[in-house]
Amino acid sequence: MSPTFVFFCLCLWHLVGVETDEMKSAEVMEGDSVTLHTHVTEIRSDDLILWTFGPKDTHIAKINRAHHEIFHDSVDGRFRARLHLDNQTGSLTITNTSTEHSGPYKIEIVTGNKISVKTFSLTVYASLSIPVITSYSQSIPLSSERPSSSKCVLLCSVVNVTQVTLSWYKGNRLLSSINIPELNTTISLHLEVEYQDNNTYSCVVNNPISDQSQHVNISDFCHTSSCVNYAHGFTEAVIRLVVSVLVGVATVAVLIYDIKSRTV
Ligand SMILES: *[C@@H]1O[C@H](CO)[C@@H](O)[C@H](O)[C@H]1NC(C)=O
Ligand SMILES: *[C@@H]1O[C@H](CO)[C@@H](O)[C@H](O)[C@H]1NC(C)=O
Ligand SMILES: *[C@@H]1O[C@H](CO)[C@@H](O)[C@H](O)[C@H]1NC(C)=O
Ligand SMILES: *[C@@H]1O[C@H](CO)[C@@H](O)[C@H](O)[C@H]1NC(C)=O
Ligand SMILES: *[C@@H]1O[C@H](CO)[C@@H](O)[C@H](O)[C@H]1NC(C)=O
Ligand SMILES: *[C@@H]1O[C@H](CO)[C@@H](O)[C@H](O)[C@H]1NC(C)=O
Repeated sequence: MSPTFVFFCLCLWHLVGVETDEMKSAEVMEGDSVTLHTHVTEIRSDDLILWTFGPKDTHIAKINRAHHEIFHDSVDGRFRARLHLDNQTGSLTITNTSTEHSGPYKIEIVTGNKISVKTFSLTVYASLSIPVITSYSQSIPLSSERPSSSKCVLLCSVVNVTQVTLSWYKGNRLLSSINIPELNTTISLHLEVEYQDNNTYSCVVNNPISDQSQHVNISDFCHTSSCVNYAHGFTEAVIRLVVSVLVGVATVAVLIYDIKSRTV
């Protein structure tokens, strides 16, 4: 290494001190506002501030010589009319957040010959809907003397969810649960109960900051007649399908007959 190079490096190091803070995390629900705080008490008129978003450090806002600029159309316009810069502190507020605002944020503050870098990781969770419970009867073969008995199966479902946990509770006790990772999916978790069960069950969907639950009254869901109704409904649907297929065949037959009689 040449002495000139070492001197140059030392000189540059002295000139530009880069100070990087530990990354801060923020988690909010969709629709909420969030402020990424710079913790700077007052920015100076000749400070340069640059806010970026995403893995490519796309510029979203800057303050240059006390002049503010918000790049509303950057990052496919997803920040349009949602960004607010505090001109005292340089803190950035994002209003009415949506899941597409999740990601890394970075601010660079250039004060004289110092650069201070702060990074943030924002996670915006989609709002959760109340889980939907359905039930059906399941026959279980017992023995030759008593051919079968049936259990009531409860299905708890949530649609198009990402990063949630779905669980069944008996009172306050956790019975089963599944984690749904980075998928946008519809998922169901089942639970088998006896018809005469009189405990209270609940199905809960949650993410790290919110939850929604549905309480289940077994006598409402697993009434023998409701399961009979369910089976009846199914039979009826099959009958309807058969009937419509028959009607279809009959129509085709009539058409063929019609065409034949015309060609003759
Ligand atoms: C700073 O913001 C306030 C209100 O938010 C505004 O009145 C003022 O003009 C702004 N200052 C500059 C230099 O833009
Ligand atoms: C919030 O954003 C959503 C789209 O993400 C939009 O439909 C809604 O109108 C916005 N609400 C407000 C109060 O701006
Ligand atoms: C769930 O996603 C599917 C396909 O991605 C869509 O057709 C359906 O409308 C969505 N349902 C809800 C409730 O958002
Ligand atoms: C999930 O699917 C819904 C409906 O198809 C869509 O509107 C939404 O943007 C998707 N969300 C993610 C994170 O992929
Ligand atoms: C609930 O079940 C327990 C035992 O299975 C029984 O002792 C109790 O009487 C039942 N309560 C009601 C209200 O049916
Ligand atoms: C369940 O439903 C029955 C009948 O509708 C009612 O008597 C009972 O109080 C309900 N139990 C709970 C926990 O809601």
